[in-house]
Amino acid sequence: MFQQVLGDPSVRDALVADPSLVPNAVEELMRIAPSVISWRRQTNVATTIGGVEVPAEADLLLVIGSANHDADHFDDADTFRLDRDVPRDHLALGHGIHLCMGAPLARLELQTLLSRFLERFPSARLADVAAPSYSPNTSFRGPDQLWVDLA
Ligand code: HEM
Repeated sequence: MFQQVLGDPSVRDALVADPSLVPNAVEELMRIAPSVISWRRQTNVATTIGGVEVPAEADLLLVIGSANHDADHFDDADTFRLDRDVPRDHLALGHGIHLCMGAPLARLELQTLLSRFLERFPSARLADVAAPSYSPNTSFRGPDQLWVDLA
């Protein structure tokens, strides 16, 4: 998640200069690189989704990672931006009655981690090593390791 911050000195420096941007940065990090990239659902009733008829009791895999990059919903969808108007309008924590129960805690943890980390290591950046690998997984996504130069 923090690759967008530590991989782009202009983003990191903006957050170091103005920590009040951290909550927006966390929302944008969750939007652009969600750790849960897809989630399962079953339809209660027959319905139509995006013009496709779906019967009742159909097993669906909702691709959150793709929805969070929907160009019809987010301007400049593939770009990490600290200045989005409605940065919480993403699906990284789900949606509806099963919205992540730990969402407030997850937000608080990420905001605390990012702000304390940048406070302590304001010049941190991604180390100059090969891009990280990702283990194959349908629903969860994160780098196997992330090398950071703290200097
Ligand atoms: C960045 C961290 C987290 C992410 C990305 C995340 C993501 C998600 C997602 C995508 C769902 C499915 C929502 C849906 O079905 O619409 C979910 C459900 C859930 N999460 Fe999280 N979560 C995080 C942290 C946490 C934490 C810290 C807790 C508890 C302390 C938690 C507890 C739950 C529970 C209990 C559900 C099931 C809710 C239900 O089915 O009604 N999550 N989470």
